[in-house]
Amino acid sequence: MELIKAVVTRRSVRRFSDRPVEEDKISSLLEAVRMSPSWANMQCWKFVVVREQATRERISELTYVESFFAPKGYKANPAKKGIAEAPVVILACADPSRSGVLWDQPYYMTDIGIAAQTLMLTTHALGLGTVFVGVFDDQKLHELLAIPQEIRIVGIFPIGYPLDETTKEGPPRKSLGEIVHYEKW
Ligand SMILES: Cc1cc2nc3c(=O)[nH]c(=O)nc-3n(C[C@H](O)[C@H](O)[C@H](O)COP(=O)(O)O)c2cc1C
Repeated sequence: MELIKAVVTRRSVRRFSDRPVEEDKISSLLEAVRMSPSWANMQCWKFVVVREQATRERISELTYVESFFAPKGYKANPAKKGIAEAPVVILACADPSRSGVLWDQPYYMTDIGIAAQTLMLTTHALGLGTVFVGVFDDQKLHELLAIPQEIRIVGIFPIGYPLDETTKEGPPRKSLGEIVHYEKW
């Protein structure tokens, strides 16, 4: 798929069919993610690939954080069902000690953000769907997957073939007039 078309047509996919995902597609996806740029090429990322149904169901249950969702009236993370449905779930994690800090700004989140965009666009280009799930019970997820405490879990990505209903138009974007300054702020 042509890159700009992939960028423009990618949408968050939150519901998946039960069609299995081919192993070679997951390998291609991880190979592409591996090529992402990072602070001083330190590649602070670690990925956990989960296929076990019972584990995916448990991860799905851990995507609700009351203090985050309750004020907005949500009873569940909109991505909850999809994590149990998708045949593969990938967690994108970071080892902050393996990235840079400049002017008090830690760059591990940037590194993982870039890897996440590679993951989302490649998933889309492979005919699959995913969504960045950033709200979850961090501590319980660490325990469930035996992730060391010093490793940060940044995002959960369910990967699968989208159900048709999920590929519709996404939420609107701000206009360029609202977000771009020319020459000076
Ligand atoms: C850092 C980050 C965290 C996100 N966390 C969640 C989440 O927990 N649950 C969810 O359903 N969507 C989540 N999203 C998806 C956004 O809601 C979505 O990208 C945005 O509404 C734009 O829609 P689009 O991806 O279809 O273009 C997250 C996206 C990002 C970038």
